[in-house]
Amino acid sequence: MFEICPETAADEPEVEALYDLCFAPGRTALSSYRLRDGVPRVAELCLLLRDPGRTLMAAIRFWPVRVAGHPVLLLGPIAVHPTAQGEGLGGLLMRDSLARARRMGFARVLLVGDAPYYSRFGFARLDHVEMPPPTNPDRVLGLELTPGAWVAVAGTVEKDLSPASATPVVPDSTACTEVPHPKEAPHASSSHPSPTRHPATNC
Ligand SMILES: CC(C)(COP(=O)(O)OP(=O)(O)OC[C@H]1O[C@@H](n2cnc3c(N)ncnc32)[C@H](O)[C@@H]1OP(=O)(O)O)[C@@H](O)C(=O)NCCC(=O)NCCS
Repeated sequence: MFEICPETAADEPEVEALYDLCFAPGRTALSSYRLRDGVPRVAELCLLLRDPGRTLMAAIRFWPVRVAGHPVLLLGPIAVHPTAQGEGLGGLLMRDSLARARRMGFARVLLVGDAPYYSRFGFARLDHVEMPPPTNPDRVLGLELTPGAWVAVAGTVEKDLSPASATPVVPDSTACTEVPHPKEAPHASSSHPSPTRHPATNC
């Protein structure tokens, strides 16, 4: 069985190494990183996927930001080890983390990424939300965790400097969940076409 675990401080070097492996050099120069500087992550939603040998296969992170004063979850980076892409691991982490975010009471999520991939999770282009430049507006995507959460929420994405977001949460490293590999899960389709490779795009 694979395991989904919260990312701890001890995991950070491994996660950074996975991101360095999966993304183009210079990823930290992106505007989304400016919004993250000095702001603690939403620790309960920063998750790792380890294989039965405890090898790190995928990781996802979430950050608090604001749009016109409204709290928003900024999703990213998400990365799956190149040897395991196209097997459903990215989808597994996306669905698991978004379900946790909904249970935690978050209302809306934002990411900068490829709509052809993220639309399968319900993300769609946000026409009235602007990321700091340089950002391609076609890649600014949003998801409502509660119906109507993005209605009348428009403007520039800003750092969340609210006291609530400034207090780092220490994740419980033992709070891991066992999950089957998506291809072994009961509903998994029997045919495994060879995965389409997509150029990594920073997020
Ligand atoms: C993007 C990423 C997280 C997806 O995870 P994954 O485990 O490879 O993908 P899944 O197995 O969940 O989904 C595979 C499907 O998504 C499609 N897909 C994957 N990345 C895609 C992309 N960037 N654009 C469009 N479709 C994409 C695959 O073609 C496949 O389609 P199919 O189901 O029709 O065959 C992973 O490929 C990755 O880490 N890429 C490098 C880093 C990166 O680009 N991260 C995202 C930045 S926004």
